[in-house]
Amino acid sequence: MQVISTLLLLICSSLLSANTPLLFPNSFLKGVAFSVHQNGGDLFGRSNWSVFEQKKTVLGTPTVTGNQRCNSSVGFWQKGFEDIALLQELGCNSVRFSVEWSAIEPEPGVFNEVVLNFYERYCDALIAAGIQPTVTLHHFTHPHWFDVIGGFEKEINITYFVRFCKVVFSRLNNKVALWYTINEPTVYSFMGYILGMHSPGKTMHFTLAGTVLKNLLLAHVRVYQELKKLPGGQQAQIGIVHQLLRAQAYSEWSPFGKFTAWFLNFCAAHKQTKKFLETGIFEYKIPGIVNVQTHCPEAPQSYDFIGINYYSRVVTGITGPTCFPNEVMTDMEYAIYPDGIYNAIAEMATLGVPMYITENGIPDAKDEHRAEFIKNYLKKVHEAVLDGYDVRGYFYWTLMDNYEWDRGFTQKFGLYQVDLTNLNRVLRPGAEPFKDHFLIANRA
Ligand code: BGC
Repeated sequence: MQVISTLLLLICSSLLSANTPLLFPNSFLKGVAFSVHQNGGDLFGRSNWSVFEQKKTVLGTPTVTGNQRCNSSVGFWQKGFEDIALLQELGCNSVRFSVEWSAIEPEPGVFNEVVLNFYERYCDALIAAGIQPTVTLHHFTHPHWFDVIGGFEKEINITYFVRFCKVVFSRLNNKVALWYTINEPTVYSFMGYILGMHSPGKTMHFTLAGTVLKNLLLAHVRVYQELKKLPGGQQAQIGIVHQLLRAQAYSEWSPFGKFTAWFLNFCAAHKQTKKFLETGIFEYKIPGIVNVQTHCPEAPQSYDFIGINYYSRVVTGITGPTCFPNEVMTDMEYAIYPDGIYNAIAEMATLGVPMYITENGIPDAKDEHRAEFIKNYLKKVHEAVLDGYDVRGYFYWTLMDNYEWDRGFTQKFGLYQVDLTNLNRVLRPGAEPFKDHFLIANRA
């Protein structure tokens, strides 16, 4: 069946010109991704990020640009249900969102029924609107009480995360198409323990960064195993979300550029993470600086699919991040690089499980390049499907402008622009290729 539908797509696609819509298979998930903290803030002020945004960096500056506060961000808790109409307007058949641990379990072992009910009703409303919910269990945020006892710095604490996941899974399982255990463990460890730009704001702690990454990966395996034992567990699709970020030097002749690229690649830990998923062996090692290792034989059997977050590569120049001639920079430190998403798919395909693009998007305040970005990246994803790679979904990051962690509200990734004074959402012209040129066969 898969072969026939791929062949049909191949024939149709070859008849299509550059501007005609891209047609994806019937079961392909077309969605947007968001995290509830970034869109709704911290319901009870009990999360690690509520604490982190009050802190100062090692330089004594605010941890969040302009000392901004997430507060209730762009109103997910108030407007989430009405925003389902926005997903429909875009033609989504799926959505990726997170569950807020600090709202569900504000105190250890005390689970908030109102919040669990909210999520249950939200899933029901999505399904009624023809949109399959997919859920991230950890997207950078967790209760402050968890950090107080050492968070993911201590392997023993994994048990608290497992308990939380079991409660959520038992409540929502029959409604959720895909479960993502942890969003970007490598980004959490790099940003939180080396750069100090994310919670908990520790800087250049290589051993902690390695330990936390190891524990997050082990937590993923434990959650996978424990959820599989629960009713409905065997049928559930459970995976992890990995950010495939790589750096490369602008010039082979620049020792600084080459060193920075090597350093970024070590910290972004793509190689270490992929090796763990493939073999169960984890090695986070720079002689004389850090040596964190473990072996978890169950790891290669701990994912039904892989979620790939892919934005771009980082090109390191003499004075900092740059791009190659003819490339267009986004509002962050990377250029538009569509070939990279194809390469990321090809590389992760060796894990031998279905793949979903769980995040891909552009910060583009002027909305000058969004259309081009979406069109070209989607074209590459489509090409990968035609080439036989088992890619089953694409989630654009993100539905609407929201709180971009340490950068506050300065980055504009949204298909919808949000007016922060009244929270009105307005569809951006640059969203057009996502809305009108990204079609699913049975809906076209
Ligand atoms: C994270 C998101 C973030 C996005 C854009 C990803 O690393 O999962 O939470 O907003 O990148 O920077």
